[in-house]
Amino acid sequence: MAQLRLAVLASGRGSNFEAILKSITSGKLKATIQVVISNKASAGALEIARNYNIPAVHISAKKFPEQEQFDEKLLAVVRECQANFIVLAGYLKMLSPAIIRAFKNRILNIHPALLPSFGGKGMYGHHVHQAVLDYGCKVTGVTVHLVDEKYDTGVPVLQRCVPVLDDDDAESLAARVLKIEHQIYTEALQLFADDRIEIIGRSVKIKSDEHSFSN
Ligand code: GRF
Repeated sequence: MAQLRLAVLASGRGSNFEAILKSITSGKLKATIQVVISNKASAGALEIARNYNIPAVHISAKKFPEQEQFDEKLLAVVRECQANFIVLAGYLKMLSPAIIRAFKNRILNIHPALLPSFGGKGMYGHHVHQAVLDYGCKVTGVTVHLVDEKYDTGVPVLQRCVPVLDDDDAESLAARVLKIEHQIYTEALQLFADDRIEIIGRSVKIKSDEHSFSN
């Protein structure tokens, strides 16, 4: 498979994007970041990208009010930048079916809980962690999943557990979960970079290391 050339889509502070970038610069992840795109002009992710001289593009929903126009523009930018894989890192806008079709099985999202629990519309940021605490869960976690046409329903690629402690509040839990997010997103991307992911229906199999060498 061709080298992973990432387009990162982010609406917020961009810590997952930065963690991925650091994995690349330290040689842990074989990929390049071709562009960072945001629907929010003030997104920290855009600022981080500019600081690292990575193309940073704001696509304004005011300028492209129709979802279709917005996503046409987005797809055009992704293609211009020659990205071949899309990474959602705190991107809070739904992607249209046209993009999902164009990048079938090549769009990942990260969710700060163990899907299918605590996912879906409105389940983002502290809402997720508060819901986990309100339910009284003893464990939560992180899910990296392929993106399909609904919120948080794509098949998981990697999941990891994180303990919930008795004295946690949403903030302390979010911080513990975020540390794992920063590790697991790189791991998932490296599996794609090494061509170790096999998708069969609603199941992602991870091929062994030897397999990728024998190919
Ligand atoms: C993360 O918690 C991620 O799981 C969710 O949005 C948040 C983005 O955080 N999808 P950051 O902008 O990467 O710091």
